[in-house]
Parts: sequence; structure tokens; C-alpha cells
Amino acid sequence: MTVLITGGAGYIGAHVLAALEARGDTAVVVDDLTTGTPEKVGATPHFNFDISTTGAADALADIMQALEVTSVIHFAAKKQVGESVARPAWYYQQNMGGLANVLEAMQRADVKSLVFSSSAAVYGLGTGSDEPIREDDVKNPINPYGQTKLAGEWLVQAAAKAAGISAVSLRYFNVAGAGSDELADRFALNLVPMIFEKLAEGKSPLVFGDDYPTPDGTCVRDYVHVVDLADAHLAVLDAIAAGEPVSAEYNVGRGEGYSVFDVLDAVRRASGQQFEADVAPRRPGDPALLVADASRIKDELGWTARYSLDDMVTSAWSGFERNGAPVKA
Ligand code: WQD
Repeated sequence: MTVLITGGAGYIGAHVLAALEARGDTAVVVDDLTTGTPEKVGATPHFNFDISTTGAADALADIMQALEVTSVIHFAAKKQVGESVARPAWYYQQNMGGLANVLEAMQRADVKSLVFSSSAAVYGLGTGSDEPIREDDVKNPINPYGQTKLAGEWLVQAAAKAAGISAVSLRYFNVAGAGSDELADRFALNLVPMIFEKLAEGKSPLVFGDDYPTPDGTCVRDYVHVVDLADAHLAVLDAIAAGEPVSAEYNVGRGEGYSVFDVLDAVRRASGQQFEADVAPRRPGDPALLVADASRIKDELGWTARYSLDDMVTSAWSGFERNGAPVKA
């Protein structure tokens, strides 16, 4: 297959690119390099433009036709919750505009297979229960970022139906780890790199609240290794290519929860450093617990996560040691 990867120079996109090329598939990347890095694309054909702009649908359709693209994986989007609260219109313009252009181009170029990067952010605060969250549970995104992902899923389904596209939205839970030092996340936007950022500054990592109704009082999340997440994309593409039935949405997580204190302990193990953490006030909008029920993707596509929390943190730490401190976007 020949796969167009939008956002292929980014953290998750580059892992999927590496996984596809490792097994002999052909890939082409479209990435405007605002947060992506060209080294991650290597020798793969790369087109550098913003897919949300007017005219991008034509450019995307031309690439799809010229390179005989058979599938699209659409990552390119803005993903910072706080920034989305500050600039909601821009988030809708970027994320919905980019997606609309991708779908428009797929219809023009007659490309029939799509994987869309969605997020656990579509669930908002979750159900409030301790039970793992299921795909059909209530979706109530609490910030514009999550709204663009949920509205994006709706647009994907509507456009897929209209154009006869097989489309799947993958709802990523908390992605961490690295497939190699070169592919490690360079941005301090999530817990693991934010811990590293503090350690690099000689400061104590922050814990946003230790008075949640969880076993140790800190928030519980479902951390999934980026290499496992990349494999989930391949499993979807393969199922579509084989003509197997697929669901419109899948959770991608381990189905296991770890607290912020658990992650800090994993960093202590990976780094060999003993450090204290500072408890800060709760961060607004954080659910106490958000863990995936990952049974649908296992039952239907045979995908399960292979890597542990220690694998994630150890590989991320190795990337940090090689690349230096992660940066703010
Ligand atoms: C994890 C936990 C924090 C930093 C977000 C988005 C979601 C998805 C993934 C994708 C929380 C705590 C964090 C720190 C801390 N987005 N924390 N100290 O909020 O679960 O999910 O990223 O692109 O849509 O909302 O992830 O990594 O920010 O936080 O205690 O310095 O770690 O409060 O409980 P989150 P996160």
C-alpha cells in the first residue's frame, strides 16, 4: 500500500511512518514543520505546506493522484488543550479545516481508506465511575481541542459515507515512550516530558493535585507506548485493505490505569535518580480517572499493547539523555 501521512514529521506520525516503512510499505508525508522535524521524515517524499489553507485540498488531491496513494492517516493538527481554550476559533480553523481538505482531496482522488487521529479528550471528564470507558459512553469534550476531535469524528463519518470511504477514528489515551532516541517526543506538553523538563532544570517535578478520589490521591490515566499505538494504525489499515469489517471508533490504550505517583516512580527507576515531587493545586479540567476499555480493538482487530509503563518511561528517558531537555511548543 502507499500511505499519505499528514503530520508525518511529528511525534506519533513519525513512529507510524517508521513502522510502515520497516515492513516495506510506501509512504509520503505532508507536514508544515511547525512542530514536526524534517529529520524524522528522512528520505521519504515530503511536502511542506499547511493543509488547513484554501487550495490545500487541490494540492493534496494532486499528491494522492501523482503518487497513487491508497490510504491516508491524518495526524496533522493542533493538540494543546490550553492553547485551544485561548484560541478556539483558530483551533477549529486548523483542525476542522485541515480535516475537511483531506476528506475533500480523498474524494477527488478516489482514495478509500482513512485513519483519523482522535483522542480520549472526546470523553471530557468521563463517566465519573471507576470503570474503564467504552467507545459508546457519553462524549462531552470540555475544551475546544476535544471538541474539534469529536466534531472531526462526525465529519469523518459523514464524508466517509458520502464517498464510500472506509474510515476509522482512533481515540488515543495518554501516549508516551519512544521507538528510538531519534523519534522521541521533543516537546514538554505531557506528564513524562514535563517531569524531564523539571529535572533538567534541577527542579522538582509537579504533581497537579493529590486529593483526588483515587487510591493515592493523584490522577489516574491509561498510558500507552507510542510503538504500540503505531501498530494499532497498521492493524486498522490492514483490516480495511483485507475488506474486513471495522468499527468507526476504537479506544487505544492498555486498559490499565497508573497514577501520577506511579509515573514518577517509573522515572526514578528509569533514571536511577531519587528526587522529590512538589504537590501543586489541581489543574482545571483534569478528570480524576480516565482509563480505556480496550476490548473492542482487541476483539475486532486483534490489537493489544505489548509494552509496559516501564518500557515507555525507559525509552523516553533514553531519548531525553540523547536529545536534551524537551522544549515548550
Ligand atoms: C497526565 C496527568 C495531569 C503534568 C492530555 C490531553 C488529551 C491528550 C493527552 C493529546 C494529569 C498530571 C501533568 C505535570 C502532573 N491530548 N500532570 N504534572 O491531561 O491526561 O491528557 O494529553 O494530544 O486530550 O488532555 O495528559 O500528560 O497533560 O497529564 O501532575 O507536570 O499528569 O494533571 O493527571 P492529560 P497530561
